[in-house]
Amino acid sequence: MKIAMIGTGYVGLVTGTCFADSGNEVACVDIDETKIARLREGKVPIYEPGLTELVIRNSESGRLTFTTDLKAAVSSSRIIYLAVGTPPAADGSADLTALKGVVDAMAPHLTADAIVVTKSTVPVGTNQFIYERLEELLGRQVDVASNPEFLKEGAAIDDFMKPDRVVVGVRRPEVGEVLAELYRPFLRTDHPFLTMSPQSAELTKYVANALLSTKISFINEMANLCEHMGGDINDVRRGIGHDSRIGFAFLFPGVGYGGSCFPKDVRALASMARDQGLNPRIMDAVDEVNQHQKTILVSKIDQHFKTDIAGKRFAIWGLAFKPQTDDIREAPALTLIDYLLENGALPQVHDPEASENIRAIYGSKLIYCESAMDALNGADALAINTEWKAYHNPNFEEMRSRMNGHIVFDGRNLYEPEKMVERGFSYHSIGRPAVYSDAPQ
Ligand code: UDX
Repeated sequence: MKIAMIGTGYVGLVTGTCFADSGNEVACVDIDETKIARLREGKVPIYEPGLTELVIRNSESGRLTFTTDLKAAVSSSRIIYLAVGTPPAADGSADLTALKGVVDAMAPHLTADAIVVTKSTVPVGTNQFIYERLEELLGRQVDVASNPEFLKEGAAIDDFMKPDRVVVGVRRPEVGEVLAELYRPFLRTDHPFLTMSPQSAELTKYVANALLSTKISFINEMANLCEHMGGDINDVRRGIGHDSRIGFAFLFPGVGYGGSCFPKDVRALASMARDQGLNPRIMDAVDEVNQHQKTILVSKIDQHFKTDIAGKRFAIWGLAFKPQTDDIREAPALTLIDYLLENGALPQVHDPEASENIRAIYGSKLIYCESAMDALNGADALAINTEWKAYHNPNFEEMRSRMNGHIVFDGRNLYEPEKMVERGFSYHSIGRPAVYSDAPQ
């Protein structure tokens, strides 16, 4: 099948590359000439495990091409995927300027049997808008489908190749059949291809992310309750997770969710509900709890140091909003860094992938360290934001010898509190009692 993928951001690039890998001819289109030139050389602008290899392999086979020529790509493709950015506007709604621009620009080049498919997360009703706009521009009906993505950053290739399910919203069953054919190589018998209306498909994406965000805010609130009541959230989590109605997934407490999807989608869903005259109480609470949770390490540091942190050195492990990505959008680390800088402390930061993105914001205000251990040199405390594998089993003796104060604020519950005391650290984590070492600080 011939596919045009409009927009070579994260979603477009992963989707286009994976479709090429299953034997389709995919032309990835972008207005950014530099980006396209670099992609032609096999240089992928984002960090996503396995993606570069896949881009190179499929480019070499000729199935995957990169171009700025929208007209050529659209006029020679049966399926046109729209994967341009839909950034949040000030009121939380999605900004569809880029998407609308692409719809107008590609319209004259669509073939008679073209199927336009939205892949970006778009407000409910966008499919209908595109459908009506194309009819207005061309004087005929064009098939417009919705095919939301459920890719996790850091695991996107795997998620695409082995989806739990594929959701498509269509007006005619025949369109569903064409898209089912496209996905056949990726589906296993127990992982369904679900066809529904465009509105339901658009909603499915928001509802999935809203529920996952709700689970995280819920467990974070329970973690804070545990701390105040002397419980241990890890035990409570195990205690509830074995109930098959509850399960274990997405119930790890932490420093709050970040990234490009959850915060944006929760707010967008709330904004859509308000537009309908509804009061999205749960979504508002999920967002509010998360905003609060992003300050949880700040509160603990504040309490411990009695707000006197001027001139103190803080090692920070982990800047990305989660491991296996260099993405720092809405990352809890930003909240912590801002607080430390505002109060005259010196952050010494480490992240295996995200340091350059942080440097683009903070420049010389931070000390950027090559290794996690270097970040500890002379530090009065360590704060952990991201659960990168490299932080799971550090050499605690070396940590102690490098640090000035032996205090760890762990936003991801990486270590056992009792063991940390034995190792000579005072240790603050999430939803578990703080423990204090008698060893010299
Ligand atoms: C998410 C959805 O999972 C994906 O389906 C959708 O397409 C895009 O949004 P992503 O943003 O890549 O993907 O991140 P994800 O791995 O889902 O994690 C989101 C956030 O939740 C991270 O900040 C993570 O640290 C946090 N999280 C996750 C928790 O705090 N606790 C958990 O138990 C799970």
